[in-house]
Amino acid sequence: MLTQKIAFIGAGAMGEALMGGWIRAGVVARENIVAADVVADRLRYIAEQLQVRTTMDNVEAVSGVDVVLLAVKPHVVAPVMAQIAPTLTPQHTLLSIAAGITTQAIEKHLTAPVPVVRIMPNTPALVGAAASAICLGRHAREEHRYLAHALFGAVGVAVDVEEKLLDAVTGLSGSGPAYVYLFIEALSDAGVQQGLSRDVATKLAAQTVLGAAQMVLTTGKHPGELKDMVTSPGGTTIAGIAALERGALRGTVMSAVAAATQRAKELG
Ligand SMILES: NC(=O)c1ccc[n+]([C@@H]2O[C@H](COP(=O)([O-])OP(=O)(O)OC[C@H]3O[C@@H](n4cnc5c(N)ncnc54)[C@H](OP(=O)(O)O)[C@@H]3O)[C@@H](O)[C@H]2O)c1
Repeated sequence: MLTQKIAFIGAGAMGEALMGGWIRAGVVARENIVAADVVADRLRYIAEQLQVRTTMDNVEAVSGVDVVLLAVKPHVVAPVMAQIAPTLTPQHTLLSIAAGITTQAIEKHLTAPVPVVRIMPNTPALVGAAASAICLGRHAREEHRYLAHALFGAVGVAVDVEEKLLDAVTGLSGSGPAYVYLFIEALSDAGVQQGLSRDVATKLAAQTVLGAAQMVLTTGKHPGELKDMVTSPGGTTIAGIAALERGALRGTVMSAVAAATQRAKELG
């Protein structure tokens, strides 16, 4: 278990997912968390659900902690930084999950050399299965990378990337859950078309995606090799794959990630 005290600035969907995930995983004790937000009802809910200390005062939240996590919407980062920057010292670690806000944009507000770490997680953090990418700001060192891995690795899988690639991460794993929901829905529709009930079709579709993903992560084999292992000559699977390829599945997915990456660049 980590001993650092952590302040959440913003206790919305992601804030709740991360606080809950870290408490459940036993990486952070609830006594070491303080959640700050501008919505009193939200804080009441968070205090009730997670039994963490709450405050409506961002500056108060930041003083006396080791780690500050910016979990507000991107357009709120600048006003929040203007508020808390004078309280931040090089002994703090400042983590940000705000999409599209660069470490440089955050550092612009700082007068002291505060270590900043930017992370792009995704919503499966809610169920402890996030895919997160981590990059370091100017003043962050290995110990800060280690801390980010300890935290985000506890609610899923975390990888290091160069900051210039975070838009690609946004296009792939940030937006990716929505692509996969579409695929699961399509598989389920197809099952219904073939006579299965909706419940059964959706359960089979979702578990198939989960199982295939676990095969990729657990075996470390190339997905193409795993595909070959279940594709017998003249069999059912190759007939299905041929139909997918007639619909240009792979080209379409590549176009989707390219479009989302481009949009992330524009928004940044
Ligand atoms: N959701 C995702 O899939 C995802 C994935 C990766 C990264 N992110 C990033 O995570 C961040 C948070 O996203 P979210 O979905 O958790 O947003 P959210 O649900 O809107 O949570 C943000 C919370 O911060 C509050 N807030 C607004 N201004 C504040 C201030 N000045 N001080 C303290 N709290 C303030 C908001 O209150 P109001 O509702 O009144 O504004 C809200 O309760 C975003 O920057 C987003 O880009 C999200």
